[in-house]
Amino acid sequence: MARRRTAILISGRGTNMTALIAASMEPDYPAEISLVLSNRPEAPGLKRASDMGLATDVVDHKAFDTKPDFEAALTARLEAAGTDLICLAGFMRLVSEEFVDRWHDRLINIHPSLLPAFTGLNTHARALDAGVKLHGCTVHYVRAAMDNGPIIAQAAVPVLPGDTADALGERVLAAEHQLYPRALALVAREEVRVVDELVRFSEAPSEPPGMLMSLGD
Ligand code: GAR
Repeated sequence: MARRRTAILISGRGTNMTALIAASMEPDYPAEISLVLSNRPEAPGLKRASDMGLATDVVDHKAFDTKPDFEAALTARLEAAGTDLICLAGFMRLVSEEFVDRWHDRLINIHPSLLPAFTGLNTHARALDAGVKLHGCTVHYVRAAMDNGPIIAQAAVPVLPGDTADALGERVLAAEHQLYPRALALVAREEVRVVDELVRFSEAPSEPPGMLMSLGD
């Protein structure tokens, strides 16, 4: 199967983007990163991506009067790059139903919690406040509701006594960097499909969809 042409959408530093690009440089990885697109011209991830030899572009949401106009420009740029799959990687704009429909089940996101717990922002502080003992991250197909959609893969990390939101966040981020390339590989190899808004796997998926990270990971 040809490698799937994958665009990464970012708004910030792009550490998950970097993990995806690094994975895509392995010869047998099933996706190639054809474009890194940011809605913020100042996103540090853009320089990181071009330093790694990737094509980058900006579609600045502030340059558009309406969300449909902004998203039409995004879609035009994605189409021009021959995009098969889109990875949101710290892309901090809510996407509309129309955008989700246009890229239906070809649009995935990573979120720093074990969904459906802790959608939204400040997930690590909220996990500590709730007293959970396992926290983690989720890769899911995107739906119009924020941080919602069929779950592809999750990684759980322990919450440790005395954890701060920053310390816990670093542990989760390390898990994100391992999980996202594996989840994209499952999608790109077409080992997952959505049935009745749940993800179904091929009989023997090549990557484990659930990962328990030990402290050494
Ligand atoms: C990551 O932790 C990602 O899970 C989160 O933004 C961060 C981006 O970091 N995404 C969301 O909260 C989406 N709701 P990065 O730019 O270093 O990859």
